[in-house]
Amino acid sequence: LDSTKWRFGMHANGNRKMSRPLHEGIASTFRARIEAGELPIGTRLPPSRALAHQLGVSRSTVVRAYGELAREGWVEARVGRGTIVRFCPDPALSRQVNWDLLVTPRIRGLDPEFDEVLRLLSQPDLVSFAGGLPDPELFPVDELSQTTRQVLEGDDRSFLQWCPPSGYLPLRRWLAERNGCRLEEVLILTGSTQGLHLLSQALIQPGDVVVVEAPTYLGAIRAFSAAGARLVTVPCEARGIDLNVLQAVLEKVRPKFLYTIPTFHNPTGGTLPASERRELVAITSRYGVPIVEDDPFSALRYDGRSLPSVRSLDTSGAVIHLSTFSKAMLPGLRVGWLIAPAELTSQLSAARGLVDLFVNGLAQASLHRFCENGIRDQHVERVRPIYRQRRDAMAAALRRYCPDIAFDVPEGGLFIWAKLPEGVVARRLLRQAIREGVAFVHGDLFFANGGGSRFVRLCFAGHAPEVIRDGIRKLSTVVARTPRGKPAHNERRLDAFVI
Ligand SMILES: Cc1ncc(COP(=O)(O)O)c(C=O)c1O
Repeated sequence: LDSTKWRFGMHANGNRKMSRPLHEGIASTFRARIEAGELPIGTRLPPSRALAHQLGVSRSTVVRAYGELAREGWVEARVGRGTIVRFCPDPALSRQVNWDLLVTPRIRGLDPEFDEVLRLLSQPDLVSFAGGLPDPELFPVDELSQTTRQVLEGDDRSFLQWCPPSGYLPLRRWLAERNGCRLEEVLILTGSTQGLHLLSQALIQPGDVVVVEAPTYLGAIRAFSAAGARLVTVPCEARGIDLNVLQAVLEKVRPKFLYTIPTFHNPTGGTLPASERRELVAITSRYGVPIVEDDPFSALRYDGRSLPSVRSLDTSGAVIHLSTFSKAMLPGLRVGWLIAPAELTSQLSAARGLVDLFVNGLAQASLHRFCENGIRDQHVERVRPIYRQRRDAMAAALRRYCPDIAFDVPEGGLFIWAKLPEGVVARRLLRQAIREGVAFVHGDLFFANGGGSRFVRLCFAGHAPEVIRDGIRKLSTVVARTPRGKPAHNERRLDAFVI
């Protein structure tokens, strides 16, 4: 509000000699305006210092007036937001509830729904390397509709009833067998995103330290931050987390847990080698620090040999393993899972009962049939060479058209993480790139504590090789035309739709 709009009767009348105290005059002016509906609920009153200056009174007079209004329930003082109107007696004159005022700072602090870039990304002919999604053209739709029909036509209808929060038993059994763990250790999730949320709720108290890689998955940064965690970062490159830095960090702080993506990392595509996995477990166990191993991509391996999961190397029950059907199959069923020591899984299961009780029973039953009949494995075998070809097409196009962009070729997953030439700021490049018909995610979004301004994450999974080539060629012309410079200190966030 422009404070010059505030008209105070006492001043306009030159009524300073009026018998009632000044602060009462100020308070009654506000009261009258709120009652008249001129200051609807949610209106911010002028800062006390500015109003005092405008009225030629001391600041304590204004503070007293605001205090009186607050005691009477007209306004509410909010740290960092000032004094805000919270009540108007006449519902016809003001909305009675201001949701923005009621929503907790924890939720209000979350980024909006990435609307702007979603709108930009929906532009026709855009070659988007931005999403972190499998190609919908490759979804096993026929097989899924077959298995869904089969389970619906079968005698067992238990999955159409309430299902235990831990998940549909046959699917849990299949996952336990596949992962070499006990049934009690498996919890089915509404996507691994729910696992991040449940772990945040169960383990993080505001102010707790959580160690994450830099860069790391934005969804994890958001989940842990919303729970009030203080994120401490450890660098992570093509060969995974830097274990020397991790060791040094653990010497200084005792985090609630370490969150890591050791296989085909999002966003770097990198993989922690087997011997380092063993060392990672040794280091964290020396300090008694649990590990959350997020593993959505390991089925999408294109070269090299499979590596043992970090969980499989731990004998002390200190590793929580998260995974999902979203990447190697499709995200729309919203089924993921978590494997953890049974005493934790049972508590997380109780906590998930508060959120949504259980995952869509039909999706679980259908997926179970899909997995048990081997169709899931066949599907993965079918898509792997296709994604490998797309990865190779992107790597070849980058080498050909963008020789000054540095990158490593990942052995699997969905992403190439590329470093732009000196002086090119990825965030600035994005707008121009979208105008030219190509999109990516700028790397700084993946750094919890800043950095990464020269990086871009390029998802190669969504387009055929020739489209990828064309997109990278467009990207190269945008990079070549972009003026070099440093990222501005307060550069506006252009949030990408990052998954
Ligand atoms: C590292 C990582 N973890 C978790 C998720 C969330 O997956 P889901 O669809 O299972 O919630 C993603 C999705 O992009 C991811 O990249």
